[in-house]
Amino acid sequence: MTPIFLVILCLGVRSSVSALDPGLDAEWEDWKILYEKSYSLEEEALRRAVWEKNMKMIKIHNEENGLGKNGYTMKMNTFGDMTDEELKKMMVAFPMQNHKKGKGIRKRALSGLPKFVDWRDEGYVTPVRYQGKCGSCWAFATTGAIEGQMFKKTGKLIPLSVQNLVDCSKPHGNNGCAWGHIYAAFRYVLHNGGVEAEATYPYKGKEGLCRYNPQNVAVKIREYVALPEDEDILMDAVATKGPIATGMHVVPKSFSFYNGGIYYEPNCNRTANHGVLVVGYGFEGNETDGNNYWLIKNSWGKYWGMNGYMKIAKDRNNHCGIASYANYPLV
Ligand SMILES: *[C@@H]1O[C@H](CO)[C@@H](O)[C@H](O)[C@H]1NC(C)=O
Ligand SMILES: *[C@@H]1O[C@H](CO)[C@@H](O)[C@H](O)[C@H]1NC(C)=O
Repeated sequence: MTPIFLVILCLGVRSSVSALDPGLDAEWEDWKILYEKSYSLEEEALRRAVWEKNMKMIKIHNEENGLGKNGYTMKMNTFGDMTDEELKKMMVAFPMQNHKKGKGIRKRALSGLPKFVDWRDEGYVTPVRYQGKCGSCWAFATTGAIEGQMFKKTGKLIPLSVQNLVDCSKPHGNNGCAWGHIYAAFRYVLHNGGVEAEATYPYKGKEGLCRYNPQNVAVKIREYVALPEDEDILMDAVATKGPIATGMHVVPKSFSFYNGGIYYEPNCNRTANHGVLVVGYGFEGNETDGNNYWLIKNSWGKYWGMNGYMKIAKDRNNHCGIASYANYPLV
């Protein structure tokens, strides 16, 4: 490191230190303990500045929410010291699905479907997990859908191996912790002859050599179905099949600090950069108010959102592309 670089670095640190709010000292210390953060002396000032910026944004959002401006609240969490750029890196860009969609799947009347569905109540959903720094959301969504169908068939709820998909599905079109497709993960499971359980092939959160052992196979799939981009068809599938894996577009700033309520992000489009599991749907308030939501399971741990889950706007023009990448397996 050249001396000149050092000088610049120190100045940068000092100027951000002077901007810190001493009124937040105690909260900062508590937050570091809660989320087990430790920094070098130089890094601490920079992280604190980022954290304060995020704190401010969350506070403003929640104040506006109190005035009825937003449909959801935000909260500080483990992502509080990450810059926008770093948050973006947690999302994985997955290109559009080039898998043939929904042959022969047609829209049916929705009138016979339940008004509320929550597959957690029926035992179809394993506990929320934490993907860590690995871009493996697509693998969590995929295993989640298989776990549900396996439970439906056998009555056994077994957490499946995300690491198996991360390490082994490259030849089928995925790229470990960098990115992946849900349909390519299903393709791997189909052609591989199954996937292992978490118990025999545990999560490491980084890509390694494929260690799949056919003797440990926990479940096989017969086929997988890609749904057409249509919220009514997704609703039908969620109600009649079980949890459905899907991709969506995430705007890191708001999504990362989601706390509760029905998430609606005006800056969303339908370019998927995150994979989630749709485990139900419903509405808040009066049915005629249009406060409909999808209930999605994330893989960012149980401290994110509503114990790891989010309600996201439903029937609002395929919000964030939630119905654009939906797939489920037949076991
Ligand atoms: C969607 O938004 C992201 C940034 O949030 C942008 O990179 C991407 O190009 C947008 N896609 C479309 C189709 O507008
Ligand atoms: C829901 O809204 C409709 C129309 O505004 C109203 O007639 C009905 O009483 C409301 N129901 C409840 C439970 O508030």
